[in-house]
Amino acid sequence: MDEIPFGLLELADPSRTRIKSYLKKDTCHIARLHSKIVGVVVLKKIDSSTVEIKNIAIKESEQGKGYGKSLLKYADQITRKLGCEKIIVGTGNSSIEQLALYQKEGFELKNIIKDFFLENYPDPIFENKIQCKNMIILEKDLTV
Ligand code: COA
Repeated sequence: MDEIPFGLLELADPSRTRIKSYLKKDTCHIARLHSKIVGVVVLKKIDSSTVEIKNIAIKESEQGKGYGKSLLKYADQITRKLGCEKIIVGTGNSSIEQLALYQKEGFELKNIIKDFFLENYPDPIFENKIQCKNMIILEKDLTV
């Protein structure tokens, strides 16, 4: 737990309680550049065919340099190693850049969990002047 970069994980998920809860069971992979932590991705095998990205974040000063795409490719590799063929990720309806990133990397819109952020987070979340209410689930099929 000493090594867990909570500050980074909180860039993607404002609830430390939720982060601590999924870190009890899921695997936190840390990306380093010249021994300094620059990124993190938390992966969970949810069934025999599917891995979920629970959290992905790149240090603010290192964003926009392609490391996020690299971490997504790394997540693909881990998913295949675990014998799975699908990878899913959930993001907010207001997370415009993240929705762009995932679709550029081969994810397709799969599902919407209505009011997820209203029901699971105590404070309102706004991004891009849009209230974050619904969770958008995207899925990537690694067999195609
Ligand atoms: N504005 C617009 N698009 C952006 C962007 C920004 N600030 N940051 C990333 N993107 C999109 C672009 O579409 C870009 O594609 P392009 O190279 O074709 O222009 C694509 O993301 C890949 O960018 P990359 O440099 O690999 O992303 P990154 O290293 O910044 O990592 C995140 C992306 C989302 C992991 C990173 O910005 C981050 O940690 N954000 C905060 C935490 C977060 O939102 N996590 C995801 C929760 S669902």
